[in-house]
Amino acid sequence: MEAVALAATAIWAGELVIMPTETVYGLAADATNPRAIERIFALKGRPPSNPLIVHVNSVEMARTCVSAWPERAQTLAQAFWPGPLTLVLPKSPTIPSAVTAGLDSVGVRMPSHPIALALIGLCGRPLAAPSANPSNAVSPTRVEHLRPEILAGVAQVLDSGACDEGIESTVLQVLPEGIAVLRPGAIPRSELERFGPMLERGERSLSPGHMPRHYSPASTVKIVQKLEADDTGLTFGPARSPSQIKMPCDAKGYAHRLYDALHWLDAQGPDCIRIEAPPDTPEWEAVWDRLRRAASPK
Ligand code: TXA
Ligand code: MG
Repeated sequence: MEAVALAATAIWAGELVIMPTETVYGLAADATNPRAIERIFALKGRPPSNPLIVHVNSVEMARTCVSAWPERAQTLAQAFWPGPLTLVLPKSPTIPSAVTAGLDSVGVRMPSHPIALALIGLCGRPLAAPSANPSNAVSPTRVEHLRPEILAGVAQVLDSGACDEGIESTVLQVLPEGIAVLRPGAIPRSELERFGPMLERGERSLSPGHMPRHYSPASTVKIVQKLEADDTGLTFGPARSPSQIKMPCDAKGYAHRLYDALHWLDAQGPDCIRIEAPPDTPEWEAVWDRLRRAASPK
């Protein structure tokens, strides 16, 4: 708890902190401090056009970040918070425009990780936190994945071991006409359908997390049907060498393991990481999204 108190002091001073969440590790700062937000963008090398998610510890705090809190948002928050669902809603003036990349909307989520909740509570304000990787690299799901250039720019690292989900939150736009998935993630689309008509587009074009190349290791990534014996990569069958990792056959287990496996293989410096194609069924949507991005040409 002492570490969390020190981290809160750093956040108050406008510094950056590595914060565990149930999805991936975040690079957290005071969401109401434009200077601190600038430091996040600089440290990640993130394009200023890509908005940050704001983390809260209650619906009450979420409501200070938005200018409207429709019934649909309340119902979704009741069903999924604390947890890996980010709600995109019209933003309030409390949130500086640097956080939202100039958009009129803001992404808010209440994480379920006790350390994240304690940190937000001690800070008494919302925390902006992108995944704690350099822009376009694979998100960290353990502190061992944190890159030296990121570590050099933070006041503190709150280590909580491996993240439970291992894949980012689902980003959902909440509109009067319905809801739109802007980024598939830890909450599958099938669990959201009952909360309103699923809109195809929303402001998808304005969600720059949807740049084609994202979540990529340094090595080239190829999606294949089956690994050969001397390939480096991820397989569903038995691993035939130390440079093959046998992945879980269920989507949730696979997502939990994916980034850790990519970080590990990438660190071996192979020319190419080959990944066996998972099933083409709805529960694999978020995993497929990350695999396609990792495999998109450099
Ligand atoms: O699980 C997560 O969401 C993690 C943990 C740390 O909470 N955070 C995370 O943040 O993945 P980041 O910055 O790596 O990804 C944020 C995504 C991007 O795709 C961004 O475009 C989208 O959320 N986003 C944020 N605010 C948005 C907005 N107002 N409108 C549309 N998309 C938004
Ligand atoms: Mg990210």
